[in-house]
Amino acid sequence: MSDVTVPGVVTITTYEGARDAFRQKQLRQALYDAGDVVMADVLVNLHGDEHRARRRLENRLFRRDTQQRYEGSLFPPIVAETLAPHVAAGRAELVSLSHQLMMNLAAFTAGVDRPERTAEETFHLYSYLMLFIEGATLAHHTGDRDAKRAEVAAALAAFDEEFLEPSIARRRAALAAVAAGDLDEDGLPRDVLTVLLRNQDDLDLAPDVVLRETCFYLLAGAHTSATAFVRTLHSVFGLDRSSPADAERARHDLAFLQRCVHETIRLQPSSPVAMRWALEPMELQGGEVVAAGDKVVIDLMAANRDPSAYGPHADDFDPHRELPPGVAPWGLSFGLGMHACIGQELAAGSDRGTAGDDLEPLYGLVPVAAQALLQAGARPDPGEPARLDPTSARDYWATYPVLL
Ligand code: HEM
Repeated sequence: MSDVTVPGVVTITTYEGARDAFRQKQLRQALYDAGDVVMADVLVNLHGDEHRARRRLENRLFRRDTQQRYEGSLFPPIVAETLAPHVAAGRAELVSLSHQLMMNLAAFTAGVDRPERTAEETFHLYSYLMLFIEGATLAHHTGDRDAKRAEVAAALAAFDEEFLEPSIARRRAALAAVAAGDLDEDGLPRDVLTVLLRNQDDLDLAPDVVLRETCFYLLAGAHTSATAFVRTLHSVFGLDRSSPADAERARHDLAFLQRCVHETIRLQPSSPVAMRWALEPMELQGGEVVAAGDKVVIDLMAANRDPSAYGPHADDFDPHRELPPGVAPWGLSFGLGMHACIGQELAAGSDRGTAGDDLEPLYGLVPVAAQALLQAGARPDPGEPARLDPTSARDYWATYPVLL
């Protein structure tokens, strides 16, 4: 099924149609066209051979053994350190806490060091991140775009000097120590920046590309995981009323909590649409005829609720949902095809339903972080109800106070 309501725009709303569109090699990324100040030449904006080469280089970091190490030993101290002051205070505001937490985890994966490891430093880094997000989504900016672009460019330069250059210096020193035989390979940081600096495939990566790619990893990892985390906790608090046995199970059974995360991400994808430009004429799986230069909009919100994939109650939050073979529990919220999210397993773990995956399973950092909150006794603060952001049509929480 598709709507061609705007000339030159083809919208795909079915699960199978969306899968097909994601796989078309002649459809090129279109979501960040106005966001060049942050997004020029970053992975998600590359196409064809250039994309393949960069992805191959960066895939090195996202192997299962490294992800195990992140989940099992590198992330837990960061989660504990970020939660500690809130647990001591007996309360937290989930929106701000989720951003601190996911920002710190994303910084670690990207290779942006936080030498002070204080809440102030996290907030400072976060203020940069918010500007980078504004830069990436400049297409939606309602004010003076040139002024915003200049502000983002200035923030990039300041971030470079303050955070990135010192992080680069530390990694260059570590790489030199490995080359000199003074440091074991295993002693190298496991992060995107190290992979880029090491550049084992000899790609031509100018310093400004390394800067933007590192910033892109910060924003790709932090905001998406933070919103999924708050929305999952909201779903679990909802179970307290609708299904107390499931609510109890979510607090103690990490695999079940992971299913709650998947259902949440399916029903509320971080980005409601993916967009592509057609590089040549084509006919899509549902019979849609696309001309060269048309825009193809993949409506994830609709595809993820397609009854032909998720059944007659596709709109319901149901962590017990039985899925037909090959249907992803998180819908298409992590994309598919060449730009499929590189951090999917890190964020949401492995799909336990996938046959043949005999590697040690991953739960994902969103389930693990949500579990840490639930085990700290998180429950909505009856004195201060959570509020949705009235300026957003997409169910973003403005504040979500909880007691711990
Ligand atoms: C709940 C969390 C997340 C969601 C919902 C999410 C969603 C997505 C989606 C939809 C895409 C594809 C965009 C497109 O096709 O146009 C994508 C790509 C990407 N994501 Fe994620 N993401 C999440 C977490 C992460 C994390 C934790 C990282 C980093 C560690 C990450 C890094 C990336 C990168 C680098 C790409 C570009 C891949 C490429 O172009 O080859 N994401 N993500």
